[in-house]
Amino acid sequence: MTIWNLGSINADLVYDVPHLPGPGETLAASGMSRGLGGKGANMSVAAARAGGRVAHVGAVGADGQWMVQRLLEYGVDTRFIGEVDAVSGHAIIAVDTSGENLIIIHGGANRAISMDLVGRALAQAEAGDLFVTQNETNAQAEAARMARDLGLRVAYAAAPFDRDEVQAVLPLLDLLVLNEVEAQQLEAATGLAPDALPVADVIVTLGARGCRWYGAEGARDFPAFKVTPVDTTGAGDTFTGYVIAGIDRGLPMPQAIAQAMRAAAIMVTRHGTADVIPDLKDVQEAQF
Ligand code: ADP
Ligand code: NA
Repeated sequence: MTIWNLGSINADLVYDVPHLPGPGETLAASGMSRGLGGKGANMSVAAARAGGRVAHVGAVGADGQWMVQRLLEYGVDTRFIGEVDAVSGHAIIAVDTSGENLIIIHGGANRAISMDLVGRALAQAEAGDLFVTQNETNAQAEAARMARDLGLRVAYAAAPFDRDEVQAVLPLLDLLVLNEVEAQQLEAATGLAPDALPVADVIVTLGARGCRWYGAEGARDFPAFKVTPVDTTGAGDTFTGYVIAGIDRGLPMPQAIAQAMRAAAIMVTRHGTADVIPDLKDVQEAQF
């Protein structure tokens, strides 16, 4: 089946600095690197590396075609990534010598996705396909409703930002994946703990402690694999992309989660985001 991912595409612009700049300070970077990132792009790459057939639905500006190209190289269907008259989404990341960071995110083109594009993409979908979205684009609730009406299973990864969005999206979902902070934010916004949410499967990821799955038979804990972390960026996105690809392939949830946790554990041992997400072979060969 196909995984339709309405998601952000960001350029991660990483600057090495001697210290994090303060107000009014101009600082020269000692190095710079550019990578593909954004929750949406990361999940598309992760699901594709996990063996899923993934179509990314999103937008970039004229400056972002290199990111579309890279997604294509990673095996993602990019036909439904539009080019819009806006700067591409990006993150400006300063990292000091102790590894402390400072991040500025600009949504840009990610917030200018047209429903027309979403409609053209989902017109190609088949009942039983999976639709996934996060909180870094516009059109999430509308697109999720369209997907649901077409008979797709709907997943959301992250906490919707505002109360209205929460109310609009929650009833449409089959699967919700949150980290611990997002689970707390969602509980504050709705008064509902993860086990009380109106969603069949909820997974709360707990960093180095693993994750907890709330399904039809109650809650079940999965301890994380033991690794020495060097960069936890993208761990959650890798986890979600793998879980979704596993579900798409018909794996029972505990197996999809186990495989996702292996992939996420490898991810925290690597620097970078989309460009370094492990593939199934890495995941199956890893010794923990
Ligand atoms: P996010 O990146 O969204 O904040 P988490 O930090 O909860 O998400 O991590 C997602 C998953 O990645 C966890 O459920 C776990 O399986 C794995 N993971 C994260 N950090 C570690 C770690 N230090 N060691 C092993 N696995 C980890
Ligand atoms: Na992360």
